[in-house]
Amino acid sequence: MRQIKLGSDKMYFGEGAVQALADLPAERKRAYIVMSGTIQEELGQLKVVTDVLESAGFVWKANTDVEPEPCWGSIQRGVEDMKTFEPDWVIGFGGGSAMDAAKAMWVFYENPQYKTLEEVMPPTVIENLKVKARVCCIPTSAGTGSECTRAALIKDPVQKRKYSIRDYNGRLVPDVAIIDPVFSTTMPRRGTAGCGMDALTHAIESYVTPLANPFSDSLAIGAWIYGYKNLPVCCDDPQNLEARGNMLAASCLAGIAFSNCALGICHGVAHTFGATYGIGHGLANGVVLPYSIAFNSEHDERSAQRYEELASFVGKTDLQKVIVDLKEQLDMPVSMKELVAEADFKRDFDVLVQKVITDVATPANPVKIDENYAAEMLRRAYYGE
Ligand SMILES: [Fe+2]
Repeated sequence: MRQIKLGSDKMYFGEGAVQALADLPAERKRAYIVMSGTIQEELGQLKVVTDVLESAGFVWKANTDVEPEPCWGSIQRGVEDMKTFEPDWVIGFGGGSAMDAAKAMWVFYENPQYKTLEEVMPPTVIENLKVKARVCCIPTSAGTGSECTRAALIKDPVQKRKYSIRDYNGRLVPDVAIIDPVFSTTMPRRGTAGCGMDALTHAIESYVTPLANPFSDSLAIGAWIYGYKNLPVCCDDPQNLEARGNMLAASCLAGIAFSNCALGICHGVAHTFGATYGIGHGLANGVVLPYSIAFNSEHDERSAQRYEELASFVGKTDLQKVIVDLKEQLDMPVSMKELVAEADFKRDFDVLVQKVITDVATPANPVKIDENYAAEMLRRAYYGE
């Protein structure tokens, strides 16, 4: 038995969805907006958000201190800032980094008794949530689906390791998701492709994990079809609001899918390369994905059948080839060798193997990953075999 949670309590989708901010129920009307850098401010998007908040009587404060892969230090600084500002809404505005950072800051703001990331990891049940504040997320890129997921990924740069703060009962799913395609039209082609491949990876891994169920399957299939069809359009025609909206929907659906099952070895290897060499999460997944499909297909008949099903939903037969062709169309790297020096890869290899094995995503892979398989996957992803 598992508890299913199909997204945020309230989800607003489509052009003009940002206006829903005016309806956030709040007594004190204090909104703390978390962003990754100043890009949303420079693009004039922050003003769109704050104009709506101000029209509804909110006082707001912005935090632009979060780095592209949010680190523990910036979470701690944000929490200290929040203790002074005392928001009753935390708004994650940006890509997965901004949204995950907002969720993580919220967890520690609600629970000052916790001092480390380890203390908010499963099996711990996070003590207080929604006592001081609630969370709203507004994605500006279509990738992580964090606006509807029950996790927040935070990097510890000292240990070069990523922690997934989670709550199995879905209490980390934001209260409100505002999915307005207007905010994603400024995302550059490279970023659009990387984030989009993350969403497709969520859909594909959700579909083959042994924890898949009819609810996650339905969402994963929808995410895959919408994502596959709309990602190239978003890359080639960035102002296309329909495609941008469809891609945001795909990323959100994929996020809800994996929140109700799990991921797999592609994320395990991508997290490892990403945390060790500073490679963006979506890009890393995009590089690894064809090799994880090949690996699982060779070792597990059920996975091979399920990959074939996904390919058939978009009129194809070979899912690995579908992804390879899509990556070529999106000008994405073929292997990690294009991104990481071979001397570094060889020097770090044993550590990488251990990181893959202990990664939060690895255990749910349909093929059980031991040291030999972790090494095989790392070599395949690196050398493009
Ligand atoms: Fe991901």
